[in-house]
Amino acid sequence: MIADACSTRMTTDACSTAAVTVSIIVPTYEEAANLAELTSRVAALRDRFASLELIIVDDNSSDGTPEAVEGLGLDWVKLIVRTAERGLSSAVLRGLAEATGDVRIVMDADLSHPPEVIPDMVAALQGGADFVVGSRYVPGGSTEDGWGVLRWINSKVATWMARPFTTVRDPMSGFLAMHRHTWSSAADLDPVGYKIGLELVVKCRCVHVVEVPIHFSTRQRGKSKLSLSVQLQYLLHIVRLMRWKFPGWSSFLPFAAVGASGMAVYVGLLALFGSMWDEAAIWKLAIPAAFGAMAWNFLLDRWLAFWYAPRGGMLRQFAGFVAICSVPVVINILVTVSLADDAMVTPLAGLIGSLVGSVAGVVFNWVMTRWLVFGKQAG
Ligand code: GDD
Ligand code: MN
Repeated sequence: MIADACSTRMTTDACSTAAVTVSIIVPTYEEAANLAELTSRVAALRDRFASLELIIVDDNSSDGTPEAVEGLGLDWVKLIVRTAERGLSSAVLRGLAEATGDVRIVMDADLSHPPEVIPDMVAALQGGADFVVGSRYVPGGSTEDGWGVLRWINSKVATWMARPFTTVRDPMSGFLAMHRHTWSSAADLDPVGYKIGLELVVKCRCVHVVEVPIHFSTRQRGKSKLSLSVQLQYLLHIVRLMRWKFPGWSSFLPFAAVGASGMAVYVGLLALFGSMWDEAAIWKLAIPAAFGAMAWNFLLDRWLAFWYAPRGGMLRQFAGFVAICSVPVVINILVTVSLADDAMVTPLAGLIGSLVGSVAGVVFNWVMTRWLVFGKQAG
């Protein structure tokens, strides 16, 4: 049948998509009011493909979304209701795992994403794309007026933060298409937050990403679920992607920043101890101040620079950390003591001492700490 259809008057694109099996995954939370229009617009696409299923992954909405799906009585619409889990990205991953089609589309339920573009997305995959994004920011794409300045700035800043990972113009899009094998090849997918498209593009190491222009409509019914916590989760998502894609820099840069903060701790403690024990020899102030700073650095480094390390064995880790720091710390204390002896105020001497020690130590300490104390990140 498909071969017959292809031999008649169909275009090459339509012909190549007519043999494709398609699954459309739609995460929903309180979208009952949008289902009738969504399913009728998707239904109009059914004869374009060999098969088409719509998978609705609902997080147990209380507005009657699950009942409304069942009430439609459509055998090509599958409903998954999750009760134990919540969240847009994990819902999408669940739908991707349950889908049976060769091509998998992800879109919103609120009709911001026009289903009519799906055949173009499938054609782009058939034409060799690894991944297809329905995009507002390529020529021909647009966003419906009425987005407040704040939402617009928000979207731009978020897009800009995704730049280190991808050149896609609209990496925030939630309108996506990929082959089954692309999804299954994506390494350790992390369902944090809203941006499952960004997650998939980065983790599948997709090279040939095609952006199909869309007009992003403002939702007519129901409410948006974008909240402040979703935006904070995006920051966490960016950190996790950084760590995944650039593990060395993601460890070294926080390590250097923590080192700089440790200098402030050292200088502050020197001033504090100096005011408490004004008769004491400088080294008697410098040594406890150095230990205080090392403890500070250790705790922050363990959290921010060596996040992947085993959590146990803290005392042993601290001993190793101090042993490695000892060379730059001794330099630091010697410089502090000798400068302060020349009648320079102690905190200023401490600042110079810790600067010299930190600069001398930052690369050495990081390499050694990573090697001997926390280990290199696996994988
Ligand atoms: N299952 C489930 N669980 N679905 C959810 C959840 C959840 O916790 N939160 C949201 N959804 C569903 C909504 O029902 C809708 O179908 C879709 O996810 C998008 O949610 P909206 O609340 O409409 O999000 P938005 O319009 O603010 O964000 C959309 O546009 C952004 C670009 O501006 C999404 O497509 C984003 O991915 C996209 O970045
Ligand atoms: Mn929306």
